[in-house]
Amino acid sequence: MARNTGSYETITVAGETVKAFVPHSLPPSRPKLAMDSKLEQLLGAATQALSRLNLAGRMIPSLDWFIYAFVRKEAVTSSQIEGTQATLMDLLSFEADESGDSKSDVDIEEICNYLEALKYARGHLSRKNGLPLSMRLLNETHKRLMKGVRGGSKQPGTIRRSQNWIGGPRPGIARFVPPPPQALGRLLSDFEKYIHADDKLSQLIRIGLLHVQFETIHPYLDGNGRIGRLLITLLLEHWGLLEQPLLYLSLYFKRNRDEYYDRLSRVRTHGDWELWTQFFLDGIATIADEAAGLAQELFGLVNEDRKKVIDAAEATVITVRLFEQLPLHPILTMPGVVKMLDTTKPTASKAIAALEKLGILVEQSGRKRDRSFGYAAYLEKLRVGTELF
Ligand SMILES: Nc1ncnc2c1ncn2[C@@H]1O[C@H](COP(=O)(O)OP(=O)(O)O)[C@@H](O)[C@H]1O
Ligand SMILES: [Mg+2]
Repeated sequence: MARNTGSYETITVAGETVKAFVPHSLPPSRPKLAMDSKLEQLLGAATQALSRLNLAGRMIPSLDWFIYAFVRKEAVTSSQIEGTQATLMDLLSFEADESGDSKSDVDIEEICNYLEALKYARGHLSRKNGLPLSMRLLNETHKRLMKGVRGGSKQPGTIRRSQNWIGGPRPGIARFVPPPPQALGRLLSDFEKYIHADDKLSQLIRIGLLHVQFETIHPYLDGNGRIGRLLITLLLEHWGLLEQPLLYLSLYFKRNRDEYYDRLSRVRTHGDWELWTQFFLDGIATIADEAAGLAQELFGLVNEDRKKVIDAAEATVITVRLFEQLPLHPILTMPGVVKMLDTTKPTASKAIAALEKLGILVEQSGRKRDRSFGYAAYLEKLRVGTELF
């Protein structure tokens, strides 16, 4: 598909003369996005998979478990794509430490920021008087994402005022040189308009287009990938395609990272919006099916284990209560359990021991003191795909 998707501006940056790409505004035109039978079929499959995920969400009584777990899975994988070195297990271990003195390295902090940023943006979109989906909302979200150590020098919440480049130590050999800063005002205003425009293209496809356009504009000094992926999460929910934030699409981008980058690039270099859209829709279908399957598996596991707990001779009320906390606290520490169940240390200790004996909790630290316990079988399923590259 030959299509001109923008123009080049010759600029000088870091002592080199290079061509910065300035994309045309959305939607793709001359020609319009070609909805051939392949795209129609992928769109159908993605739409159906999202419906199945919505249905799974509605059928499962403890939806908050899955929102808790899947939002974390998305946060971790989205952060890992460009190098955050922390895993889902690291995040859950960090969150389990009630004392707050487990070391929080910058990587975990980045993931916690992502969770805060998502919560912040969803909060606005769900309130009547909240900010609409706009650059202002994305900037405020970016401010929260980049808070602290690594983002400090990256102008959190601010559209960049300098030239940047992607993929390479110098602009001259970079994979991609985004638009110059003085072009950003108009580009972002058009971007925002397209979010609210009346377009006949399917909403799901439009979300994919918006993601590419955002990455091509690359409005921030850092965090563009994460905000652009968060935008997908927000739009899916805001436009009613997904009832809850259960789709951890970033896992698909992480698994197929080279293809992800390549297809983003091909929109710019070849005007190939169709190839990107195929990739994006396949990602939605794949992850929606995986997420629905995982939700059902985890739910089944908890039901089986609950039966084991209740049938066990030494089951006490407190043991059952502890068990019921596990999906929202799959990693635990002793002080955490004391606080959570508002009980004494000996009682908490007995409850932990009972679940250990049933093989439900497994000690993970290998230490004698400051031990931590994990709901091993549950974590084994949940963590798939969240390890470092
Ligand atoms: N060739 C490319 N063309 C357009 N966007 C790209 C390309 N390669 C990578 N990207 C996007 O840029 C992101 C990295 O930009 P960056 O600002 O560092 O974001 P983050 O820090 O959130 O990972 C990638 O995650 C991807 O979304
Ligand atoms: Mg980055």
